[in-house]
Amino acid sequence: MDTTALAWFFGLLLPPLVAVLYSIAMLSMYAGFCEWTVSEKLPSLAWRLGLLGGAAAITYSDRYATTHGSNISETSRMEISMMVIESALIWVLSFYFLLETRLEDIVGGTDPNGRVPKDCIKGKIVLVTGANAGIGKETARQLANLGAAKVILACRSPKRGQDAMEELRKNQQEDTMKLSQLMVLECDLGSFDSIRKAVDFLKGRQLEDIPKIDVLILNAGVMMNDHVMTKDGCETMMQANLLGHYLLTRMLLAKNMLKPNKKNPPRVLHLSSSTYQIAVSHHGGMDMDDLFCNKGKRQYSLFGQYAQSKLGNILFAKELARRYKDKLVSLAVHPGLVRTDVTRNMPFILYYGNLACAIFMKQLQKTVAQGAWCSVSGATISVDAGLMSTHELDTPESGTAEPEDSTDKEEPKGIPNGSYLQNGKVRQTDTYTYLEADARKLWDLSEKIVGLEQE
Ligand SMILES: NC(=O)c1ccc[n+]([C@@H]2O[C@H](COP(=O)([O-])OP(=O)(O)OC[C@H]3O[C@@H](n4cnc5c(N)ncnc54)[C@H](OP(=O)(O)O)[C@@H]3O)[C@@H](O)[C@H]2O)c1
Repeated sequence: MDTTALAWFFGLLLPPLVAVLYSIAMLSMYAGFCEWTVSEKLPSLAWRLGLLGGAAAITYSDRYATTHGSNISETSRMEISMMVIESALIWVLSFYFLLETRLEDIVGGTDPNGRVPKDCIKGKIVLVTGANAGIGKETARQLANLGAAKVILACRSPKRGQDAMEELRKNQQEDTMKLSQLMVLECDLGSFDSIRKAVDFLKGRQLEDIPKIDVLILNAGVMMNDHVMTKDGCETMMQANLLGHYLLTRMLLAKNMLKPNKKNPPRVLHLSSSTYQIAVSHHGGMDMDDLFCNKGKRQYSLFGQYAQSKLGNILFAKELARRYKDKLVSLAVHPGLVRTDVTRNMPFILYYGNLACAIFMKQLQKTVAQGAWCSVSGATISVDAGLMSTHELDTPESGTAEPEDSTDKEEPKGIPNGSYLQNGKVRQTDTYTYLEADARKLWDLSEKIVGLEQE
């Protein structure tokens, strides 16, 4: 192939093709993560893709006219340079559109605190698990800056917790410095014993400075490529992400540190993930016969087991709301795709792939501040605890139970208890998550595993 033909191909055809394919791949990835549905985005996507297509058509016809359809080898150097420049512009335009589409979905922006009603968290005592890194640390920072009376950083490593606390203290805004007190609590969710000790420690301070927990943020989470069992006999992800949080919540309730009441209901946030859908699509829901993947019924996989634990978070959130009705607020939160270190235990290729493609990935992932804003909005959003989140079925004639999305609707005054929040808005989850029987079954099974059944 002569060089001019190569220039035609690489200069004119390849860049826009790559740009369009790249955009389609990334956009479908976000639709896959359920940050939005394609129908929600169709109008804005249509005009952007239309503009892109129009620009490409003008470029092609312009080039075609210039060369008068003549033999491409007659094309001058100048014309080839023009082709490359025009192609590059299409490339940049498509990338810009992609980012713009993405940014439309990110709520919180550069000043997430500016979006939260003033004083809504003032005077409250907040406990955040996994608060020494990622979303948890940033959530603690934002809530401290909003004036929480105390933010307890529950961490498995006291040293990492202490380092995080020092860092947050340094960054705390001047005006809230005296209002918010930070404290580290040792709590390894991978050890039932450690959780019980942590709750006993808090109970010991009840008459002093921690009368109760107002907001409990069950944030800690881990992704494990290897199938590792804990000393409690549970699979690590299932214990750290779900069962440990279950025990912590139940113990705080049992010890009267979380005090359900109608006037000022405590709030529990469960950090989930849209990956829960893998558990529904691949296993039809929560695999309660082989929760730890050690009975040979289900093969262990990083995303498969993670999804199971995250589905468990949603079921737990809904069941907790059901059991305490208007006396406790329980919400599941999906922070979106956030650039944290959660990938550290992923397979080599995913971990280094994420690092190597940082320049692209960073544009598409939320910052930690934007991700944490989802938890902060969950901690502060107005909830009608008397209302239960239910799945609204589609029109009877269709006979299907498509999840209905309230994203475009006018925001209700108070969202229903047990809701799943994404970007500070209620989003309906898969029909499966509304099955009360399975949520109840998981509650009972968790109770048995963590050893609360006999208490
Ligand atoms: N990042 C995302 O894109 C994304 C998306 C959807 C959902 N989420 C969820 O958001 C939550 C926070 O994730 P992240 O991205 O901030 O992750 P991260 O940066 O890896 O932070 C996770 C935190 O959890 C702690 N943790 C892990 N295992 C623990 C255990 N056994 N006991 C106590 N703490 C433990 C970690 O402590 P160490 O430092 O000691 O390990 C760390 O502080 C997780 O529940 C995750 O599933 C994240």
